[in-house]
Amino acid sequence: MTFIGKCALVTGAAGGIGAAIVESLRAQGARVAVADKVVSDIDAEAYLPGDLLDPQYCDELPQRAMKSLGGLDIVINNAGVITRGAVTGTTDADWKLSMGVNVEAPFRICRSAIPLMAETGGGAIVNTASCWGGKAPGPNHALYCMTKAAIASLTQCMGMDHAHQGIRINAVCPNEVNTPMLRSGFEKRGFDPDRAIAELGKSVPIGHVAEPQEVSDVILFLASDAARYMCGALVEVNGGKPVS
Ligand SMILES: NC(=O)c1ccc[n+]([C@@H]2O[C@H](COP(=O)([O-])OP(=O)(O)OC[C@H]3O[C@@H](n4cnc5c(N)ncnc54)[C@H](O)[C@@H]3O)[C@@H](O)[C@H]2O)c1
Repeated sequence: MTFIGKCALVTGAAGGIGAAIVESLRAQGARVAVADKVVSDIDAEAYLPGDLLDPQYCDELPQRAMKSLGGLDIVINNAGVITRGAVTGTTDADWKLSMGVNVEAPFRICRSAIPLMAETGGGAIVNTASCWGGKAPGPNHALYCMTKAAIASLTQCMGMDHAHQGIRINAVCPNEVNTPMLRSGFEKRGFDPDRAIAELGKSVPIGHVAEPQEVSDVILFLASDAARYMCGALVEVNGGKPVS
């Protein structure tokens, strides 16, 4: 895979998987615009910080990335938040946050990016769903699973609807990944994250919980010309562990 001459926008770039995506894209020649609400010291060609809960920020992000980089060939909608619990334990604030970051933001970014990409000869968008929701729900995370099902469905629809414009839209569906999202969950429940992740790894047939790079490699594949015939696919990255 090579991304020489390609311009990419990555959301959630300060997070575990996001930082791996940015580093790999740049290592393979892409120029990258990074978007996140937290400031990080990650190297990039353009910095577009902001809050994905702000509709205007999302609507303008693709155009701003294009302007900063001199083009826009790849969009990686990677940012996400997790809310735990059954529906009965879910607050209005949980709803707004989860729907806003996991569904509305990628919807708005895709809606703005697609016409720009179509005008300049096409491109690739990779959304981040989850094994939980993208393929099947897991227990006690009703809202999270629903948002991931929504982005998975949107990806399938957009994959069909925009292939004729030379825009390929696919999603990655990871199972557990060793990032702050997973680790903070263990911490909140009073577990040592290193130990908990080692223990959880025993439940994965391949023998360990995914590292961010193991997911970002698949995202880069979907963004690359090697995936040139893939449109609307939901690609599970699960180390052989099905959602049960
Ligand atoms: N870690 C896992 O086990 C796992 C499993 C399946 C899917 N995923 C998905 O992978 C993606 C990346 O997750 P991660 O594990 O790297 O998580 P992470 O928490 O390490 O990173 C998420 C990033 O998104 C950013 N973000 C969150 N809300 C934002 C907002 N309102 N505005 C701007 N930026 C915002 C955060 O600042 C953070 O840098 C997410 O979509 C997540 O749902 C993760």
